[in-house]
Amino acid sequence: MAGGGDKVDYVFKVVLIGDSAVGKSQILARFARNEFSLDSKATIGVEFQTRTLVIEHKSVKAQIWDTAGQERYRAVTSAYYRGALGALLVYDITKRQSFDHIPRWLEELRGHADKNIVIMLVGNKSDLEDERAVSTEDAKEFAEKENLFFLETSALQATNVENAFQTVLTEIF
Ligand code: GTP
Ligand code: MG
Repeated sequence: MAGGGDKVDYVFKVVLIGDSAVGKSQILARFARNEFSLDSKATIGVEFQTRTLVIEHKSVKAQIWDTAGQERYRAVTSAYYRGALGALLVYDITKRQSFDHIPRWLEELRGHADKNIVIMLVGNKSDLEDERAVSTEDAKEFAEKENLFFLETSALQATNVENAFQTVLTEIF
């Protein structure tokens, strides 16, 4: 394990983007601290958290940036994307609109980020199967067309959150 004092071989910046309330901050809380809150407040500006993990025997510090989905609370776009090597593009499987907005987020991402950025499309809240409004097939098809990785996650149940970050970080590596 890469604990306190151990050297870090790489620092990888990964950004979270997507509509407000899709669960970006809770995905980050789950990944960075193994925490989850049902009464999470909307993010204002930018926050980031780090977690160091071992990938192929190297110590990798993941620096995960999280910003507001709400336009009025968003930070300066170019600074947010600068140096990002990976991105989680998040929608809520129970909110069709959050999926319909994905092309816009992708356009912004591709307009500002490095052209080799590793992108994972993430359908969050998979625990709410009864309220599903976006089929897994639709999302998979979109991801294939756009050359994105794809996973459905639940920050609440801790399903696939680790997997999503691991996949992106390993691919960057
Ligand atoms: P902004 O900061 O406004 O962009 O929103 P956000 O994308 O960061 O959303 P946030 O993480 O604050 O979560 C919004 C709401 O969805 C909160 O009430 C969370 O508890 C809830 N939520 C997040 N992830 C899940 C999940 O996997 N399942 C369920 N059922 N609820 C979730
Ligand atoms: Mg947030």
